[in-house]
Amino acid sequence: MKISIIGGGKVAFHLSNMLKEVQHFELFQILIRNKESQAAFTSFENLKIIDNYNQLSNEVDIILIAVNDDQISSVSNSIQALDLFENKYIFHTSGKFTSSVFLPYFKNFGIFYPLQTFSFLRNPDYTKIPFCISASNKVTKQILLDLASSISSNINVLTDQEREKIHLAAVIVNNFTNHLYSIAEDYLEKNNIEFDLLKPLIRETIDKLDDLTPKEAQTGPAKRGDIATIQNHLSLIKDQKELSKLYKMISKSINKDLKI
Ligand SMILES: NC(=O)c1ccc[n+]([C@@H]2O[C@H](COP(=O)([O-])OP(=O)(O)OC[C@H]3O[C@@H](n4cnc5c(N)ncnc54)[C@H](OP(=O)(O)O)[C@@H]3O)[C@@H](O)[C@H]2O)c1
Repeated sequence: MKISIIGGGKVAFHLSNMLKEVQHFELFQILIRNKESQAAFTSFENLKIIDNYNQLSNEVDIILIAVNDDQISSVSNSIQALDLFENKYIFHTSGKFTSSVFLPYFKNFGIFYPLQTFSFLRNPDYTKIPFCISASNKVTKQILLDLASSISSNINVLTDQEREKIHLAAVIVNNFTNHLYSIAEDYLEKNNIEFDLLKPLIRETIDKLDDLTPKEAQTGPAKRGDIATIQNHLSLIKDQKELSKLYKMISKSINKDLKI
């Protein structure tokens, strides 16, 4: 089956990479409206880069929409206006958006959500990415299953409600955690200490989840109720109101009995 991707961002790039060598599916063209973003895609052999909806080929069977969440509806509208894709299979890659966004436009639609964080400069192991899929009908679901299993061995058929909840949990474990890394990096930088020192600790924090639940794995002054250490930390950041607030809030979330 032939595939077109819409979008020239991080997910579009990794989808292009994932689909380079899969069997039974052929990445045929990609619509990237911004000329500068096209440069990252020129190395994909046989991939036609287009910049206009009128250039979308009627030969394709599947359209993968990998654009900003708030643009999925307008992109669907542009595709439907071409009047060529009524019976094609249209999927988006958002964890947040329900598939109902497609209801006014298509009948064969679904969600192809890769539960991973993507950046241009990193290639995660695609074969381990959990793909969360849902589809508007049986045939569409089978196509999504075939597509996802041509890339990964971790496929999950989910309702919109389940996927939304997984997306929220993913934001907590990925985006929030990474933001905390960033705060720690700024704090250390101001004190001329290298963030790299923390990397073995960060890795072990993740690795030990292979053997323990997050609750079992929790350590630290808040968990122990070690008020003296907490007060000492708060005195070190007494001039940083936001950070003090965050430190207290998370400490209290770890240990509801803390009086700080
Ligand atoms: N990043 C992740 O880690 C991740 C993981 C899983 C799922 N997702 C989901 O995947 C989707 C794409 O995310 P992303 O991270 O790849 O976003 P991104 O890097 O910000 O890229 C978005 C791309 O969509 C293009 N675009 C926006 N509106 C468009 C339109 N109307 N027509 C054509 N192209 C349009 C943008 O083009 P311009 O540059 O011209 O604006 C840009 O190339 C989102 O739904 C997101 O929730 C992301």
